[in-house]
Amino acid sequence: MKVILAKDYADMSNIAADIIEDVIKAKPSCTIGLATGSSPVGMYQELSRRCREENLDFSKIHTINLDEYVGLEPNHDQSYRHFMDENFFNHINIDKSNTFVAKGVGDPEKNLKEFNDILDKNEIEIQVLGIGPDGHLGFNEPGDVLYDKAHQEHLDESTISANARFFKNREDVPKYAFTMGMGDIMRAKRLLLLIGGNKAEAATKLLMTNTLDPHCPATFIRMHRNATVIIEQSLADVIGYKG
Ligand code: GLP
Repeated sequence: MKVILAKDYADMSNIAADIIEDVIKAKPSCTIGLATGSSPVGMYQELSRRCREENLDFSKIHTINLDEYVGLEPNHDQSYRHFMDENFFNHINIDKSNTFVAKGVGDPEKNLKEFNDILDKNEIEIQVLGIGPDGHLGFNEPGDVLYDKAHQEHLDESTISANARFFKNREDVPKYAFTMGMGDIMRAKRLLLLIGGNKAEAATKLLMTNTLDPHCPATFIRMHRNATVIIEQSLADVIGYKG
C-alpha cells in the first residue's frame, strides 16, 4: 500500500486527479469505479476543469459507482445518481449511458442482479474510495462478516448520523443501501483511497495497526497489491502518522 501525504484538501484533490488522468490517458476506454461523499468532490472539480480547459477526454470512459441509497429516486437531491450528475458527469464529456449507479427504487432483487451483472462483466481499472468514520468502504459496514458481492446493507447509526447533514431531518436518511461488496472492491486493478477530515479512528486502524479487521473494513485495503492512500497532513498529524 502506497501512502501519500497531501498538504491539504486541494493538494489531495490534485494528486488524485493526476492519478486518474494518467489512468485515462493510458486506457481511454476503461471502466473507473467512483465514490460519493465530500472526499472526492475536489478531485471531481479538478478533473472537470481539466476536461474543459485541457481536453481531458472522458468520451469513451465507463464508470460504476460504489453504492446507492435504497428508496431514493434517481432525481432525489440526495441520491448518489444525482450527486454524481451534479458534481461530475454534467461537467465532463462523458456519455451518461456509460455511467452506472445502482437503482435505489423498484424491485430490489432485480436492481442487485443488474448491479452484480455489470460488475461481473467489467473489470474496474481503478476504484476511487472514501472512508466512513466507522471505517466503512462504499456502504460495507463494520461487522463480524463482510460480503463479497453487491448486496443490501442495513446502515449503522453512526453512518446515518454522519450522513444526516445532507438531509432536512435525521429520519429522512435512508436506513438501507446497495453497495459493491468488499470482494468487488478488492477485484479492482487499482485502489485510490482519499482520507481527510474527521476520520482519525478509521485512519489509525488503517495506517497504524497490522490487523485486518472486519470491524474496520478499510483495513482490508492493505491486502491489495496496487492501493494508493492519500491522507491530508492535518489528519496524519492527529493520528501521529509520519509516513
Ligand atoms: C458515504 C459513502 C461512502 C463514503 C463516505 C464518506 O457513507 N457511502 O462511500 O466514503 O460517505 O464520505 P465523506 O467523503 O463525505 O467523508
